[in-house]
Amino acid sequence: MTDVVRTVAALRRAVASLRDNGQSIAFVPTMGNLHRGHLRLMDQALQAADVCIASIYVNPMQFNQQADLAAYPRTPKADLEKLQQAGVQLLFMPDDQTMYPHGQHQQTFVEVPNLGEILEGEHRPGHFRGVATVVNRLFNLVQPDIAVFGKKDYQQLMLVRKMVADLAMPVTILAGETERETDGLAMSSRNARLSPQQRRIASRLHEALVEIKNLVAKSSENLQKSIEKTIKELEEAGFAVEYLSLRRRSDLLPPEPGDRQLVVLAAAVLGDVRLIDNLETEKLS
Ligand code: PAF
Repeated sequence: MTDVVRTVAALRRAVASLRDNGQSIAFVPTMGNLHRGHLRLMDQALQAADVCIASIYVNPMQFNQQADLAAYPRTPKADLEKLQQAGVQLLFMPDDQTMYPHGQHQQTFVEVPNLGEILEGEHRPGHFRGVATVVNRLFNLVQPDIAVFGKKDYQQLMLVRKMVADLAMPVTILAGETERETDGLAMSSRNARLSPQQRRIASRLHEALVEIKNLVAKSSENLQKSIEKTIKELEEAGFAVEYLSLRRRSDLLPPEPGDRQLVVLAAAVLGDVRLIDNLETEKLS
């Protein structure tokens, strides 16, 4: 049985009772419309702690476009069924008034410098302030031992890790692998908004990442030229590419000679659906 709580008081009572029973807590924050990718994070949480608490809150502060916020799919009934099946013990489902009692513009916020301003941060101004602020508030409410974030949102995962380290928050962050459709498209709630034709094209974004990953592994020369060519091919296929960029994993800055642990990240729009994806890659020589 998944218990659903909607208020701060009810959540605090439920968490206190778990703590009284000596149970450790792993937390998976989500915006709902749950798919296999989310459920994998829940599984990981359940393996790492006695109890998994999930949250569903479509956080207006992290949307830089009202249309995107309005179009975000909301499927609470189906979500609850999936959480029951996954064995999640508690679901926190607050409304805006509960999360931002004085309104989002009066809310004290958290901003992560540098990491929050590049790539996604550059293309979605204010996005990471919204993410860091809501995750901070959720952590203070749930007080988990562990929290699980998917690698699909690679920069978000790193941003949360940095926030937790900088603010000495007593929570361990675990990374969950990206779940993919059979053609490689990373699972995302936004995929449902793709037309059948766009859906056929969408997997090319993953193919592009694989291509760059392989070139990096082979220590291919002229990587930047290959990346530019791949961007052009994506544009020809119908994507508006916001970025396709090879970065070092440690801080997501462009790699220096000698950096080996890399990640290639992309954001591209198909029609009015914005897709992001990434692949970790390693330079061997
Ligand atoms: O990844 C998400 O779904 C959201 O950014 C999160 C972490 C739940 C914060 O609103």
